[in-house]
Order: sequence, then C-alpha cells, then structure tokens
Amino acid sequence: MSAIAIDRPRTESANIASQIASAAAIHIKGLEKSFGNNRVLRGIDLDIPAGQFVAVIGKSGCGKSTLLRILMGLEEPSAGYLRFDTAEGSDAQPNTRIVFQEPRLLPWFSVADNVAVGLGEGVPQDISRRETVSVLSEVQLAEKAGEWPSSLSGGQKQRVALARALVSKPGILALDEPLGALDALTRISMQELLNRVWRELGFTAVLVTHDVSEAVHLADRVVVLDEGRIVLDLDIPHPHPRHHGNPALAELEGQLLAAILGETRS
Ligand SMILES: Nc1ncnc2c1ncn2[C@@H]1O[C@H](COP(=O)(O)OP(=O)(O)OP(=O)(O)O)[C@@H](O)[C@H]1O
Ligand SMILES: [Mg+2]
Repeated sequence: MSAIAIDRPRTESANIASQIASAAAIHIKGLEKSFGNNRVLRGIDLDIPAGQFVAVIGKSGCGKSTLLRILMGLEEPSAGYLRFDTAEGSDAQPNTRIVFQEPRLLPWFSVADNVAVGLGEGVPQDISRRETVSVLSEVQLAEKAGEWPSSLSGGQKQRVALARALVSKPGILALDEPLGALDALTRISMQELLNRVWRELGFTAVLVTHDVSEAVHLADRVVVLDEGRIVLDLDIPHPHPRHHGNPALAELEGQLLAAILGETRS
C-alpha cells in the first residue's frame, strides 16, 4: 500500500463567506513511521467518521504527536495508508488545522490580526474582519479584538490560538495537548468551550491529551497507544455536554488508565 502525502490545503478567499464547516472522515490502515531504527508507529488501523471527537492517550513517547503530524501532512508515513472522505469526495484534501500546547501568537499583532493569520493570504479585508469577529465571539473574546497578546491570560491566549485554528472552518481539528499548560479551573472551562464549539461547528476532532478525565469528558471515543500500537479503542457512549463526577465516566477512566499502565482488567 502506498503512503499518501497530505499537503496543508489553502482556503480560497472566494469561498470563505459561503463555506460551512465540512467535516472529513479519516481512514488509516497499516500506518507505520520510523525514525532511523526507532519504529514509532507500528501498524495503526483507525477509521474516524466525519464529525467524531476522538481522543488519543498514552505514555510519553508512544507516538501521539507523530500520528497527529502525519494527519496534518507535516510528516510522511514510512508505510501504510491515509485517506480522507470529504464533502468534495474521497481522497480530497480536507482543511486541517492544529492547536498546540503553546499558543504561538505573534506578539506584534493584535488579537484580531493573530486570528486573521489563520485565514491565509489574499482574503479581502471586509471578509477577514467579519470572520475574525465571528470566531472571536465564538471563543468569548470579542472585546479583546484590539488588545496585544501580552495583555491576555494563559487561557485567553489559548482561546485566541483556538480561534485562529477555527477561523478557516476546518474539516479536521487536531489538538496536541492544547490545555496542558493551563491551571485546573481554566482547563475545565476550556474543556466546556471546546465541547461547545465542536458541537456547534461540527468538525472532526483528534485530541492528544495526557489527562484521562479530559479524554473521557470530551471524546466520543478514546484510543490508547502503546509502543506505536493501538491497545484499546473505547467508545464513550454518553451524550454531550457531560458533567464531571459522573460515576459511569469514572469507570471508563479506570479502564483507560489500566490500559495505559499495561494492566489487564476483567
Ligand atoms: N523528527 C523526529 N526525529 C527523530 N525522532 C523523532 C522525531 N519526532 C519524534 N521522534 C521520536 O518518536 C517517538 C515518539 O515521539 P512523539 O513526539 O510522537 O511522542 P508523544 O507520544 O507525543 O510523547 P509526549 O507525550 O511526550 O508528547 C519518540 O521516541 C521521539 O523521540
Ligand atoms: Mg507529544
């Protein structure tokens, strides 16, 4: 099977006003990735339906970020198969964006201009302004549009980074420990925000996190990676939004933790 290189697609300026979020399905088969002799991904099979929220968890170094980078087209697979289904057809390149643990904002740009970066070049100013205001409202930061990043809290900066990723209405949003640097309370409110924007905008989400409770709280399905393989693929069959402290979710957390730690449970 041949590996498919994924370029990060550009959103054409002409489409932006009319474009609605068009979630893409992801099909991964036999995916391998080696760096020299280091076999990081060892045969990943994963089908993610359009619009699903999947969390990927596992020990440090098990290949989570490598998998996300391959999804983003930032890294070439060594072997295997990666295909997308979009509204435009099978194999079409979806609009895919990523949010990292650090917000990576440009300090010399205002909040609004940082968000507009996510639209790419050549977008008419009136469209850019309208889309930027709309997505800043979505992340509850409309009143900060004219501020500098240095005047924002950590959670606010991360909301700007999320807005920058969402402004082009991605079909797939990849998130690599996006809340990892935030304090516990900010983290919980960001989880709620992430859940709300996902339900409203309908993109396919792939979230890498170290926080099992966060995975169970946000995802339809949690995948556990260990030494480059999927060792558990667990559905979380509970309606959204979910409430912390739900005993059924705590039981699922226990199963996931056992899989991460390599324990067998009946
Ligand atoms: N560009 C690279 N060149 C060489 N080795 C790499 C490269 N990127 C990742 N690796 C190796 O691949 C393995 C998996 O790395 P990866 O960043 O995917 O882990 P991770 O699961 O995201 O870990 P963490 O939870 O610590 O972020 C590690 O052994 C790492 O050293
Ligand atoms: Mg990582």
